[in-house]
Amino acid sequence: MSRHVAVLMGGWSAEREVSLVSGAAVAAALAENGYRVTTIDLTRDLEALRRALTPRPDVVFNALHGRGGEDGCVQGVLEIMGIPYSHSGVLASAVAMDKDMTKRLVAAAGVRSPRGVVLERGAITGGHPLPPPYVVKPVDEGSTVGVTLVERDGAPVTEAVLEQIWAKGSRVLVEEFIPGRELTVGVMGDRPLAVTEIVFDGSIFDYVAKYTAGHAHHVVPAMLPPGIAEEAMRLALVVHRTLGCRGVSRSDFRFDPSRPGTEGLCFLEVNTQPGMTPLSLVPEQAAHLGISYHELVTWIVENAAWQG
Ligand SMILES: Nc1ncnc2c1ncn2[C@@H]1O[C@H](COP(=O)(O)OP(=O)(O)O)[C@@H](O)[C@H]1O
Ligand SMILES: [Mg+2]
Repeated sequence: MSRHVAVLMGGWSAEREVSLVSGAAVAAALAENGYRVTTIDLTRDLEALRRALTPRPDVVFNALHGRGGEDGCVQGVLEIMGIPYSHSGVLASAVAMDKDMTKRLVAAAGVRSPRGVVLERGAITGGHPLPPPYVVKPVDEGSTVGVTLVERDGAPVTEAVLEQIWAKGSRVLVEEFIPGRELTVGVMGDRPLAVTEIVFDGSIFDYVAKYTAGHAHHVVPAMLPPGIAEEAMRLALVVHRTLGCRGVSRSDFRFDPSRPGTEGLCFLEVNTQPGMTPLSLVPEQAAHLGISYHELVTWIVENAAWQG
């Protein structure tokens, strides 16, 4: 009998819509590959989730992004229910959702990231927390929600700007602005896939650039000075292993070519539930290596696990 895969998608995070697109594409590909597939739009109604997971599927494919789906919460529910699920487990998911915690952990493994400070609400004094230019972003919400750049001659972040960020969480991360290019590296198990450069208008890859057609394009493999791609791939694997990620992950970097050698590479964050639409970065890197979308989603299902 064919294996039953339940695809978890949607959720209530800022990335709900992207997740629905990822989930639909994953479900279609798995059905074409001969799995019996059901889809579940995750809500906060646990009783509804329990019903949707009855009878129990063989595997859950987690196609969620952001809060609830990428932060260890739904992973914990699946652990309790004893259902194997794709991607990272509770701990790696929870750590990766917190950019500050991630930076501290990977620093111990020799991975450089931007200098920064975490501010609690009320700690804003009206002055610059760092010499500008710097970036202000939520510590634990993905997809560039509220990422704000304060330019060299810019005014300090205001309460009004921070309110938009604090609506999502209680703390913000203020980081030195790393000029230069935007790189991202997918990891599939123990294999870094490739380096993609994301080319876009503007200084930071914000929500508009990310999700508006025509605002950004991908170059894979990225055209980089010798040794940079290899180092970015090495670092992405170090991050994946340091956090104990499972299945696929994707690490974002900035690369400042004005700095010597690999010193210009700066790690920003790791995504434990990277986009899975056929046009997303990880599927695109896999395709570059001759791994089709169908092969990728099948590999992810077959690598699903739980702590037991
Ligand atoms: N310290 C930084 N220096 C320069 N650009 C940054 C910095 N932090 C974030 N950015 C820009 O904002 C984008 C989103 O930040 P990131 O940390 O990847 O969070 P998320 O993707 O979860 O929103 C990055 O892709 C990058 O373009
Ligand atoms: Mg990012």
